Amino acid sequence: WILLLSTIVGAYLLGSIPSGFLVGRARGVDLRKEGSGNIGATNALRVLGKKWGYLVFAADAFKGFVATAGTVAIVEPIAPAYAIPMGVVAAAFCVVGHNFPVWLNFEGGKGIATSAGVMLGLFPIMVFISGLAVWLILFFVTRYVSVASIGASITLPTASAVLTLMGHCDWLRVSVAGILCIMALWRHRPNIQRLLAGTEKKFEKKRPSPQ
Ligand code: G3P
Repeated sequence: WILLLSTIVGAYLLGSIPSGFLVGRARGVDLRKEGSGNIGATNALRVLGKKWGYLVFAADAFKGFVATAGTVAIVEPIAPAYAIPMGVVAAAFCVVGHNFPVWLNFEGGKGIATSAGVMLGLFPIMVFISGLAVWLILFFVTRYVSVASIGASITLPTASAVLTLMGHCDWLRVSVAGILCIMALWRHRPNIQRLLAGTEKKFEKKRPSPQ
């Protein structure tokens, strides 16, 4: 029980570190008031530029990776049978912490970068590769980051279920991938509404200003 409680609290607190908000504040910008109002990597890139967007993505993904791979590494030597189940708990609470951080009145990001880190830390590499492939295809075809993220989120439980049927994953991890997918869809509600209304902004490369 102590192990479970410390996993929940530790993963939540790690996930709740609002990298995008902190980077924005260091640059003198409140990301919640600019662009889409989201504190994730996409809005950091949109508002602050590429370099900062990539930094926020890396920091958010790192949280997911450390929470899951770290938990498995700590639990494995103590109680091997609980390593994956605790990793699954860490995965869920790390993304909950990112999406609903206590520090920002429970208004956080959409969990895509953090889920990518979780995939790398807890799942067979093929799950991450499938999600990334779907993300890239949808992004280059539609130029909507949100469509790419939604498609990638749906790919995670799908790919892990296929791998489970092939004997390379398990239903516990499929379930948490499903939970992460539902959370991502929930947090993308404003994007879905804008897509349906035709007002979602496509990703545009910044053109050099005319001389
Ligand atoms: O991962 C978030 C992305 O799918 C959408 O971000 O800022 O356009 O709402 P944003």
